[in-house]
Order: sequence, then C-alpha cells, then structure tokens
Amino acid sequence: MTGPLENLDAVVNGLLGEVDTIASIEELDAREPALAGRRSPLAALQKSLGGLDPDARRDAGARLQAARARVEAAIGDCRRRLAAAERDRLLEADRLDLGDVVTSTVPDTLRAGHPGLVARTQAELEDVFVAMGFRVAEGPEVESDWYNFEALNIPPAHPARGMWDTFYVDLGEPETVVLRTHTSPTQVHLMETAVRDGSLPIHSVMPGRCYRRDTPDARHLAAFHQVEGLVVDRGITFADLAGVIETFTRAYFGTDVETRLRPSYFPFTEPSAEFEITCQICHGTGCRTCSHTGWIELGGCGMLDPAVLEAVGIDPDEWSGFAFGFGIDRCAQMRHEIADMRALTENDARFLEQFS
Ligand code: DAH
Repeated sequence: MTGPLENLDAVVNGLLGEVDTIASIEELDAREPALAGRRSPLAALQKSLGGLDPDARRDAGARLQAARARVEAAIGDCRRRLAAAERDRLLEADRLDLGDVVTSTVPDTLRAGHPGLVARTQAELEDVFVAMGFRVAEGPEVESDWYNFEALNIPPAHPARGMWDTFYVDLGEPETVVLRTHTSPTQVHLMETAVRDGSLPIHSVMPGRCYRRDTPDARHLAAFHQVEGLVVDRGITFADLAGVIETFTRAYFGTDVETRLRPSYFPFTEPSAEFEITCQICHGTGCRTCSHTGWIELGGCGMLDPAVLEAVGIDPDEWSGFAFGFGIDRCAQMRHEIADMRALTENDARFLEQFS
C-alpha cells in the first residue's frame, strides 16, 4: 500500500515499543504528547490526509483512528501498571514486619523480664545462710554518721575512716548523714532492736546496697552490694566464725574452692581477718582480675569488739559474737567468671540474657 499511511504499522509498532520502555508515571506524563498527543507521529499523519480524496480520507482516517486507539490503550495499560508498581512500593516501604515487632518492639508481654544477676546472687546467698540457721534482715541505705562509723568504734577523725571513701548527704545540722559505705551499720540497728525487745541471741545476715567514692575498675563499683553477718550469743569463738565462712563459701562456690583467712584490721572486730577465695577467673595462677595474686578478697570478718557491744548496751562479759561482711557483686563475678565487674552495670542485653 502506498500513500501517507504506508508506514503506519511500523509507526505504531515503534510507538508501542517506546511505551514499553517507560519506567515511571512522571516519564509517561512527559512523553505522552509525543506518543499519542498533538506532537505524535500519528497527529502528523492525520494532517497529511488532507490531500486525499474523500473516500480514501475516510478509510485512512478510520485506520488512523484504530492505530491511535491501540497506542492509547497501550499507554493506559502502561499507566495502570506503573501506578500499581508505585502503590506496591509505597506499601512495602510502610509495611509493618510482624516478625520484627514480636522479637524487638513489644516483647514485654511475650518475654517476661528476669531478676538481674546481682539480685539472683543475693537470693542464692540468702538461701545458703537460711539453710545454716540465719535470719535475713535489712537496714537503711542512708545512715547517720553514728550508725555508719561511731557505733562501730570509728570516732570522727579516726584514721580508719580512710578505709571508706564516703558520699555525704547534705541535710544540714545537726547530724552528719552518709550513704552507707558498708552494711555493718545494720548490725547496730539489729543489736539495738534485740536489746530493746530482749530478743538476744542474734544469728542474722543483712544484704543490701552500699556506696563508696571509688573509681570503678575490674573489681570495684561505686554502688555495690554486701551481705553482713552477725552472731551474738554465749560462748562464741573464732572457730565458729571460720566454720561459717568455710561452710558458706563451699555451699556457694563449690567444694573445690579454697578459702583463706588473713589477719587484718577493722575497728569493730578484734581479732579481725580478711577472707579470700581462689580467683575463679584464673583458678589461682594469677590474672588481671586478681592483680596476679591468684586470690580474690570477698570481705572482712572478726570477733565483735567489746566496745561495739557496749555502745548498744550489750554486756560483753555475758555475750560475745562475730561479724562478717562481703561483696555480693564480687561473689557473682567469681561464680560466673566475669573478668570485669563493670559488666554488671552496663545493661548490655547480650550480657544480661546469659543470666535469665
Ligand atoms: N564492713 C567492712 C567493709 O565493708 C567488712 C567487714 C569487716 C564487716 C569485718 C564485718 C566485719 O562485719 O566484722 O569493708
């Protein structure tokens, strides 16, 4: 066929091919006039029909109309396809991944929390002592100077105060108030109560949080936990104290742990000792955690100084006893072989989840 429409099929195929390559609605909008509108080759062909006779023009017009309809249909398909793809893209971007939600965002109702390692260690230690016949008591974390120091035979300006770098609470006159530097003041509360109630003897342990102005390191935290122990009874000897220490360390750490007592000094006990266990990080060979000694100090202990009994109105000729105090965090560290104690306070889920 000759005449103005002799290449119509090729033109239409060219236009359809072009429509196929369009990749976005924006591109389609930009190119539509050149494909099917006033600037398209079909519009130019339309103009060229003017010179045909009426019959030929009608036929050619109909063919051209059909060709335009094909191109417009292809453009319509293309627009729908692109719009659907765009909708999918937006939906995908907005999609809530329920898998993610369950495992990370709303776990509280699905995965209950659990006590931290220190709380768990405290409960385990309490169990050990309860099994040995002790009661569990607690005391305040904010203490007057009298309870934290003086009643424990540490008068103001006593050089032993240097053993405890103290946080002071500024409440003004008349008393000096401190964050307790150890759980030993709870001994004093307990003895006072026992005197008032006439409920001697005492066999108690007193766990709780303590504070010291220490720079945290592998073995120290500024806020830490201790268990205090106190026995006030008749005829108590150092052998009873040593037996209690040996029994509880074996019960808690296992029978292959070695314990040793070393002579020491505390103002509230006489004689005094420090007790240590073999470092559980290096099993005695020496490492950074134990400063290469092979031993880790758990706490102090000793026979109650008569001055402490007298300060609370207990007759030291009738009653005697012993006391001890040691770190809960330190026990957790040794039992679970945690090289650096600061891991206990860093709230790293990878650490915490190991103790769930
Ligand atoms: N309170 C001491 C401290 O924190 C430890 C201690 C030593 C407690 C001897 C005692 C004791 O009850 O008798 O360093």
